Amino acid sequence: MCGIVGYAGARDALPVLSDGLKNLEYRGYDSAGVALCEGGAPTVYKTVGEVDDLRAVLPDASEATVGVGHTRWSTHGEPTDANAHPHTDCTGDVAVVHNGIIDNYDDLKAELEADGHAFASETDTEVVPHLVEAELADGASPADAFAAAVARIEGSFALAMVVDGTDAIYLARQDSPLCVGHGDGETFVGSDVTAFLEHAREVTYLENGDVAVVTADELVVEHDGERVERPVEQVEWEADAAEKGGYEHYMLKEIHEQPRALRQTLSGRIDALEGEVDLDVDLPREYLNSLEEVQFVACGTSYHAGLYAANLVEEHADVRATVHVASEYQFRGGRDPWRTLVVAVTQSGETAETLAALREADRTGARTLAVTNVVGSSVTRLADENLYIRAGPEIGVAATKTFVSQVTSLALLAVHVGRERDELTPTEASDLLEDARGLPGAVQRVLDADAQVRAVAEAYADSDAFFFIGRALGHSVALESALKLKEISYDHAEGFPAGELKHGPLALVTDDTPVVAVLTGGARAAETVNSVKEVESRGAPVVGLCTDGIGEKFVDDALAVPDLGAMSPLVANVYAQLFAYHVANLKGRAIDKPRNLAKSVTVE
Ligand code: AGP
Repeated sequence: MCGIVGYAGARDALPVLSDGLKNLEYRGYDSAGVALCEGGAPTVYKTVGEVDDLRAVLPDASEATVGVGHTRWSTHGEPTDANAHPHTDCTGDVAVVHNGIIDNYDDLKAELEADGHAFASETDTEVVPHLVEAELADGASPADAFAAAVARIEGSFALAMVVDGTDAIYLARQDSPLCVGHGDGETFVGSDVTAFLEHAREVTYLENGDVAVVTADELVVEHDGERVERPVEQVEWEADAAEKGGYEHYMLKEIHEQPRALRQTLSGRIDALEGEVDLDVDLPREYLNSLEEVQFVACGTSYHAGLYAANLVEEHADVRATVHVASEYQFRGGRDPWRTLVVAVTQSGETAETLAALREADRTGARTLAVTNVVGSSVTRLADENLYIRAGPEIGVAATKTFVSQVTSLALLAVHVGRERDELTPTEASDLLEDARGLPGAVQRVLDADAQVRAVAEAYADSDAFFFIGRALGHSVALESALKLKEISYDHAEGFPAGELKHGPLALVTDDTPVVAVLTGGARAAETVNSVKEVESRGAPVVGLCTDGIGEKFVDDALAVPDLGAMSPLVANVYAQLFAYHVANLKGRAIDKPRNLAKSVTVE
């Protein structure tokens, strides 16, 4: 989820691109670059770091009236100058910027290298300019060369290309947003409207499958080879609202970004038909078969992702899995490092306690794996192996999309370990991967029910104590749901394994303590119904997160969770995110920056 900007017009493109990149930088990026068409091959300036670092290497002005720019959030390849966008072909005539992931880049790169193309970066993006180069060499026009290249790539992408000898920008969109702003004799391109909002408010949003060419005064869109018209919309948002995509808070925007984040997490990693997973981590089969324990170390929400994962690893890979609050890890003994895989789960990759736990694991000689959202973060330099969750940058202090992407990445890890240990048959793995593949759609269905969640939140927002209960995978979701609510609403919220209620917490249950119960597949819903009856008989209202047919008739408010097997509790968690958001919003809390909390906790 990088940022793209483009300009075609009559004035100097450089300040427009530079300001556009600055506008896109609000989410924090790791490298940036521009390609300027000054009458010849595009001139490329790029660097690792922030837009200000790029500005330090840019000239004060340029002759270019056409150009593209990019801020990068790494998914393939470390943040380096070489991996920064734009990427060029062998001749330097073609420059491309890209958001998203090209799933089949390995195959394409091998084919292009065999044909003599030299690659300068580790990115998936670089296959695009080389594909275009090959088409141009065969005599295709830039537009046809671009369309032919786009037809060969699979995955998610927003692409913008400039080519020597044209004053156009070539665009393509698949599962990654791209829009065009219409000015007076000039045209702007952006991955979102913040890239050009001060210049243009009439905007055309490209749709999936669109390939387009923009010049200073024209936008031509094709879909499946046919010319199509896309509507021009008026954007009323101010810059602050635009950064949030029109949502009131980053947290809500990030909740709604989850289907896209999940697609990126899964992209190119699963073959559901064959029951195969490709995570690009070096955990050899012999090593995985010698394993006696997988230890997850993490804090907060990431700890809850670890709990979910431990359950899956034990069930599907038949190996003991333990979960450790990172700050407590050093106080535990009894390790056999040679047979233990230590998995550090941290979205930021910078949490001090998780890093300390990883250092401790490393000191004992255990093999380590980091599961993180941030390429090049501290944890990636400490761990033996890295698995990126690819959720895109998260600004809200309350983790949402990173949690679902963490759990999904870890579910894939569980399938991988299970397959390598021959504890999962291809058919069983295939079923699990089908469930994972269904996540973006299932989460979208929950998001579509937001009005219903808001109504439930309105009914209970006056309470100031809430309980969340669940079993098995539903237990980790109950804990995560309670954390989300307490973080942003400041209400007392606790999550419990449903069976524990009667061992103490039941004393707190009254008719003013709403209870949210996870009653989905994968969460032992039938047994949890007994706990629902226990709290109801004490007068507590119950909200059920229910997979079809389980539990609805026992609860006061039922929110329907699509049935996705072991992934259902994760989908239910999205209801809890929305519930927490609406309760906090009704109470007027500072949702994106709750009191006393920081996004990244870098001190022990
Ligand atoms: C989540 O909503 C919290 N902000 C917090 O618990 C967070 O998950 C924890 O600090 C760990 O962060 P990390 O994933 O970046 O390591």
